[in-house]
Amino acid sequence: MARSLFLRVLVFCGVLLGGVRGKTTTATTPSYTSVPVYPAPLGGRNSQDNDWLDAYDKARAFVTELTLLEKINLTTGTGWEMGPCVGNTGTIPRLGFTSLCLQDSPTGVRYADYNSLFPAGLATAATFNKELMYQRGQALGKEFLAKGANAILGPAVGPMGRTPEGGRNWETFGPEPYLQGIAGALSVLGIQDQGVMATAKHFLLYEQEHFRQVAEFQGFGWSSIEAPYSSNVDDRTLHEVYAWPFADMIRAGVASVMCSYNMANNSQACQNSYLLNRVLKDELGFQGFVMSDWGGQRSGVASALAGLDMTMPGDGLSWADDNPLWGPQLALSVLNGSVPIWRLDDMATRIMAAYYKVGQDQLTIEPNFQSWSFDTYGAVYPRSYDTPYATINKHVNARSALSSNVTATIATESMVLLKNNGGLPLQAYGSLALLGSAAGPPPLGPNGCENLECNNGTLGMGWGSGTANYPYLVTPLEAINAKVRANSMSLAYNLDDDDLDGCASTAENMDAAIVFITSDSGECLASVEGNIGDRNDLYAWHSGDDLVKAVAAVNTNTIVVVETVGAIDMEAWIENENVTAVLYAIVAGQDVGTGIAEILFGDSSPSGKLPFTVAKNTTDYPASVAYTMSSTSPQINYTEGIFIDYKHFDKNDITPRYEFGYGLSYTTFEISDVSAEVVDSANISTYADTAPAYLDAEYYNETYLPSSNSLIYPDDIPRYEYFIYPYLTVKQALNVYYNDNAYPYPNGYSTEQASSPSPSGGASGGNPALWDVLATVSASVSNTGSVYGGEVVQLYISYPTVTDIDFPIRSLRGFEKVFLDAGDSATVGFNLTRRDLSYWDVITSDWVLPSGEFGVYVGNSSRNAVNTASFEL
Ligand SMILES: *[C@@H]1O[C@H](CO)[C@@H](O)[C@H](O)[C@H]1NC(C)=O
Ligand SMILES: *[C@@H]1O[C@H](CO)[C@@H](O)[C@H](O)[C@H]1NC(C)=O
Ligand SMILES: *[C@@H]1O[C@H](CO)[C@@H](O)[C@H](O)[C@H]1NC(C)=O
Ligand SMILES: *[C@@H]1O[C@H](CO)[C@@H](O)[C@H](O)[C@H]1NC(C)=O
Ligand SMILES: *[C@@H]1O[C@H](CO)[C@@H](O)[C@H](O)[C@H]1NC(C)=O
Ligand SMILES: *[C@@H]1O[C@H](CO)[C@@H](O)[C@H](O)[C@H]1NC(C)=O
Ligand SMILES: *[C@@H]1O[C@H](CO)[C@@H](O)[C@H](O)[C@H]1NC(C)=O
Ligand SMILES: *[C@@H]1O[C@H](CO)[C@@H](O)[C@H](O)[C@H]1NC(C)=O
Ligand SMILES: *[C@@H]1O[C@H](CO)[C@@H](O)[C@H](O)[C@H]1NC(C)=O
Ligand SMILES: *[C@@H]1O[C@H](CO)[C@@H](O)[C@H](O)[C@H]1NC(C)=O
Repeated sequence: MARSLFLRVLVFCGVLLGGVRGKTTTATTPSYTSVPVYPAPLGGRNSQDNDWLDAYDKARAFVTELTLLEKINLTTGTGWEMGPCVGNTGTIPRLGFTSLCLQDSPTGVRYADYNSLFPAGLATAATFNKELMYQRGQALGKEFLAKGANAILGPAVGPMGRTPEGGRNWETFGPEPYLQGIAGALSVLGIQDQGVMATAKHFLLYEQEHFRQVAEFQGFGWSSIEAPYSSNVDDRTLHEVYAWPFADMIRAGVASVMCSYNMANNSQACQNSYLLNRVLKDELGFQGFVMSDWGGQRSGVASALAGLDMTMPGDGLSWADDNPLWGPQLALSVLNGSVPIWRLDDMATRIMAAYYKVGQDQLTIEPNFQSWSFDTYGAVYPRSYDTPYATINKHVNARSALSSNVTATIATESMVLLKNNGGLPLQAYGSLALLGSAAGPPPLGPNGCENLECNNGTLGMGWGSGTANYPYLVTPLEAINAKVRANSMSLAYNLDDDDLDGCASTAENMDAAIVFITSDSGECLASVEGNIGDRNDLYAWHSGDDLVKAVAAVNTNTIVVVETVGAIDMEAWIENENVTAVLYAIVAGQDVGTGIAEILFGDSSPSGKLPFTVAKNTTDYPASVAYTMSSTSPQINYTEGIFIDYKHFDKNDITPRYEFGYGLSYTTFEISDVSAEVVDSANISTYADTAPAYLDAEYYNETYLPSSNSLIYPDDIPRYEYFIYPYLTVKQALNVYYNDNAYPYPNGYSTEQASSPSPSGGASGGNPALWDVLATVSASVSNTGSVYGGEVVQLYISYPTVTDIDFPIRSLRGFEKVFLDAGDSATVGFNLTRRDLSYWDVITSDWVLPSGEFGVYVGNSSRNAVNTASFEL
């Protein structure tokens, strides 16, 4: 299996990603363009970032000792499948510094064994439980560390989920920027507390799979595509929606940020100087390193100048082409003066600062697995015909008690009960029928399809690189069967989705009939049942609507379980009186069946809430995936601006089927005593006080540029075919001349570092004053029902009126999950920061605090939150 996996990846990528060059560009002139911003800010200059400043001291002490080639080795991957991990940097043998291992994915250690497959980001969001968000990060961190990975390629907070069909929406925490920010930051803290570097991705505006890479979509038949899609978005939306969660993760100290495949305003995200130099490294004060998505780097010099710090997997414009854009080319770019040496120094320093920031100098990190094979002994560099052989897999069991607890707890707490007319919890007697293939095991086993690129049997995860192998998969059938035996009940089932008559007759005369339907999506590595990553529509797969209708026609207690990557259209049967309950199981991971059974049988009261809106009609959403292209460089204009998901429904007065934040329980809660007040000492000026000036720019010894001859391949190191080394060929070394004026620099190019951050910047995450607490809100919550349960108390605010500024009717600005015994109550408190109450002003490029009355809505969904208080600024 492992070997075929390796071959398939290779062949597949070769086909899809080859032939990218040599096209003449006749693309229609794009009307959105990105502003050039240079130079790339040097790291280590934020006077208030003490953790980072310590890390920079150590990083500078290390980097100052490095030769040019050693620095290059830190920045460039060794090539696809040229090392144990999906990304491997070069090494510094002279100092005993080993390769950095960068490994997928946000849901577990990919391409490994004895790892967990955690509930996905969207399931984690559905718990609305901050402690679990942190613990999941910790558990992930422990597993990556146990496998010897330096960095986890996650958490993902982009895509935001602008379109409900977006293929990778489930990898992230849903279309509410505030929720993405909290969940992303807590994940980062959990991961990095274990000593593993977290990677915030994908930066930025990567909202759909269609047309994300040119050669890939030529491979899917769009032969005329010449550029990936461009996400065109206004500056306010960019800051308030898409960059927002990155700010929280950067404030939490995230080590790395991954730039994405798409373009933004017609400039490739990995060489977009506005996004990287301005937004990320200046405004958001990011101190770690920017790594490219795999193949996301589209230029050498331009990406270096625009702020890229590490290229992965090291290959060039097409996969495994042995023609890197950096490596020796970066050395040449420095020697010929096109890339200033300080830029390379900054790349290396940023990478090492991140390494010290999470304390990796105190750890021994050696990968003990191999992504390309499960064999114990095998090829170290599987792409290379002259690869050495060694022990490549130690089969280390990375799982911990914490992992098991987190996977099971999130699987249960993420279940969202949407409808319940008495169907649930199940009575612990009588007869049950389970209908539909999604109740049972995948015929080929949990890992029967590579990267989970299929939807057969129980669906616990979407597909693509955001997955890992299942260590096991608890199906609903298995978990329910156990409860049936324990309660002396009886169970029948029919797992054939197409056998409507058979399913109906199995369901007839049963005390309850539970129908399992699915909806899947993933990364466009593969087209699954005709869906190229993005979902083609929001209907249940495998004619799920027909199955529900057939069963509901004969059983008055039909319960529908939806195993899904997001919202589905349920209008065909949602109001059917025989459908007595509907439960969403959102990408819940290896323990999905356990979670479903816990809720169905009432062992746990459901406490998950929708982290997205379920519409009555797909056309009710503000935007849809662009499935076709009308230009050789597809343009996607985000004309809905900040109004995505519930903010769009609220603004346009569209009644959703189930709103954001909604979810039922087996008990009842009452929220009362809402009060809000402005903090006494709050500085309520329109603009925050600006952060202190940058610390002085520190440069290394700039007079030092080695002679090109000294960078030629040495004779005494092993040279494996396809391995990306930093060295020059003799020919390259003979033909390099220094001229720091010769490169056609973009307009606005400068090498002069700013002395102060831009107004919204100044520290990791942005101006620290943005996190000043200006107002507080408190509320009481009581469990007025008869069983123990959890409630998510949600705080939404409305803004004062400001001329020419359109605000959402309600914006989520706080949530706390509280578990209470029947009859108990608790008080919850919320802090509202300057950032929470501000909007992005496109004229001054800064956050503005409006003055006037802010409305305070506290409740248990975005539409069941009553305006019970207000405060004036
Ligand atoms: C794209 O262009 C819009 C309109 O000019 C601008 O507001 C926004 O900041 C630009 N975004 C990027 C990433 O360049
Ligand atoms: C660069 O890394 C490779 C291994 O990835 C190593 O063989 C080589 O010696 C390193 N070069 C230098 C100059 O450290
Ligand atoms: C310097 O070298 C790089 C890498 O080979 C190349 O892309 C760039 O165009 C060169 N600069 C000039 C001015 O030729
Ligand atoms: C997880 O751990 C908590 C705290 O120790 C415990 O109360 C809970 O029962 C555990 N849950 C599971 C599913 O193991
Ligand atoms: C699994 O799903 C794929 C479609 O994605 C289908 O072609 C295949 O036959 C299914 N395999 C089994 C064993 O059901
Ligand atoms: C509900 O089930 C009953 C009993 O099987 C059936 O007679 C009735 O038609 C069903 N109602 C709907 C709306 O399907
Ligand atoms: C969904 O909306 C579209 C466009 O408004 C409309 O044509 C269609 O009939 C609607 N579908 C349903 C089932 O209401
Ligand atoms: C996007 O906006 C630009 C500028 O307004 C316009 O020229 C273009 O036609 C729009 N493209 C699409 C697909 O709406
Ligand atoms: C800078 O490097 C040059 C060349 O190696 C060396 O001669 C000089 O002493 C160095 N300067 C400092 C301040 O280290
Ligand atoms: C609110 O902020 C105060 C002071 O910064 C802090 O002690 C408290 O824990 C915060 N409360 C919440 C609910 O975050």
